[in-house]
Amino acid sequence: MQFEGRVAIVTGGAGSIGRATSALLAERGARVLVADVDPAGEAIAGELARCGHDVQFTQCDVSGEPDVAAMVRAATERWGRLDVMVANAGIGVRGAADELALDDWRRALDVNLTSVLLCVKYAVQAMAGHPGAIVNTASVMGLVAPRRAAAYAATKGAVVNLTRAAAIDHAAQGIRVNAVCPGHLEAPTGVGGAAARAADARDLIARYPLGRLGRPDEVARGIAFLASDEASFITGTCLVIDGGYTAQ
Ligand SMILES: NC(=O)c1ccc[n+]([C@@H]2O[C@H](COP(=O)([O-])OP(=O)(O)OC[C@H]3O[C@@H](n4cnc5c(N)ncnc54)[C@H](O)[C@@H]3O)[C@@H](O)[C@H]2O)c1
Repeated sequence: MQFEGRVAIVTGGAGSIGRATSALLAERGARVLVADVDPAGEAIAGELARCGHDVQFTQCDVSGEPDVAAMVRAATERWGRLDVMVANAGIGVRGAADELALDDWRRALDVNLTSVLLCVKYAVQAMAGHPGAIVNTASVMGLVAPRRAAAYAATKGAVVNLTRAAAIDHAAQGIRVNAVCPGHLEAPTGVGGAAARAADARDLIARYPLGRLGRPDEVARGIAFLASDEASFITGTCLVIDGGYTAQ
């Protein structure tokens, strides 16, 4: 998994999976644009730059088209190309259908699904003329549905099939599009944090055949694999990284 000479964007780069992915891609030689709505991404990019990596931060709300266009422009203006797009930003929204406020449903669609469409759209345009790889972060909740996560499960299921649709549409251009489907992570904050911290964490862990929750670096390695030439014949697929959760 080498990325020398490659340029990558990682959205949600200030979060647990995004940070681990940005660091791994940079360590393997990529120039990385860390993109996040949270300005904390600036410090993360700075830390990687201090380690000698060519990394920059851009503040971006991935649910808005002008922001995503500007994010991709920031990478191509600085480095002259785009090879890897990791559409990873996302939010957790709790609630069964009968308890969801419509605003929360729409926010989940905007941040978890429309953002992926926009990242694919502008990445494909920027990759025109050379091969590229797009990796979307879906979730095991895009394959199975937990209780009280109607909006989250719906958006992640849609990311899985948007990944397939985009893979078909852009295969002829040499652009591979794949997704990862992580299970619950032990990250103390973020999308999975609430579940992992909850009183029923032990019950949650019991549903994982490997006997523990995942780590952000384990998801980052899956993302980097799909983004790399090691996955040169893989497109339109979902790599499930869940310690066996969906196998039983
Ligand atoms: N943590 C888990 O257990 C888990 C499991 C399966 C899938 N996922 C998915 O992994 C992805 C990353 O999640 P994480 O676990 O690193 O959580 P996280 O909360 O640590 O990271 C998510 C990042 O996305 C950013 N973000 C949110 N809205 C944004 C917006 N509109 N524009 C730009 N950035 C925005 C946040 O600021 C945050 O830095 C998400 O898509 C999430 O749904 C997480």
